[in-house]
Amino acid sequence: MEAAQLGNDLEKVLITEEQIQQRLQELAEQIDSDYAGRDFLVVGVLHGALMVVADLTRKLKSAVEIDWMAISSYGSGTKSSGVVRILKDLDTDVHGRHVLIVEDIIDSGLTLAWLKDNLETRGAASVQIAAALRKPGVQRVEVDVKYVGFDIPNEFVVGYGLDYDQKYRNLNCVGTLAPHVYGG
Ligand code: PRP
Repeated sequence: MEAAQLGNDLEKVLITEEQIQQRLQELAEQIDSDYAGRDFLVVGVLHGALMVVADLTRKLKSAVEIDWMAISSYGSGTKSSGVVRILKDLDTDVHGRHVLIVEDIIDSGLTLAWLKDNLETRGAASVQIAAALRKPGVQRVEVDVKYVGFDIPNEFVVGYGLDYDQKYRNLNCVGTLAPHVYGG
């Protein structure tokens, strides 16, 4: 779905499809170079990372394995608490594996901090993180993110995997919704 199809529901486009794809190409080249000669496992975090995993991995020159986790953060409303429950675990044993976690967005950072620690505890040889979007200044924990697509303002964004009420994930760009969408 393109921005035009949202009509008045879209307030503004923050990152276009072209900008996303160009930046992912740069990140893919960096990842290919960093992992040259080493097998690695891409771990996508459902559901938001669907698009970035699909696009980023297709731009890689190396053949990678892809697995998925679904996790839920206990919290009030939209705020994550850092207390995480695994809804769907990996099918892969990560012991001794180089793991690249791929996420759509880092907000508080609590989800990724927990996940990185969890995979390291399972004996992964290394755990690095790639995230399409990051909101600087709102992280509540220090998370070392090696590959970042875009730093964005602290606004509620949708598209490219990110939802509002489970919708708009299939928007091909990243944008903000008009207030009337939230207000009903
Ligand atoms: C989003 C996003 C990250 C997490 C980031 O997932 O995909 O996993 O929140 O937030 P944090 O940095 O504050 O921990 P969400 O729980 O909305 O689930 P979804 O991916 O299924 O939309």
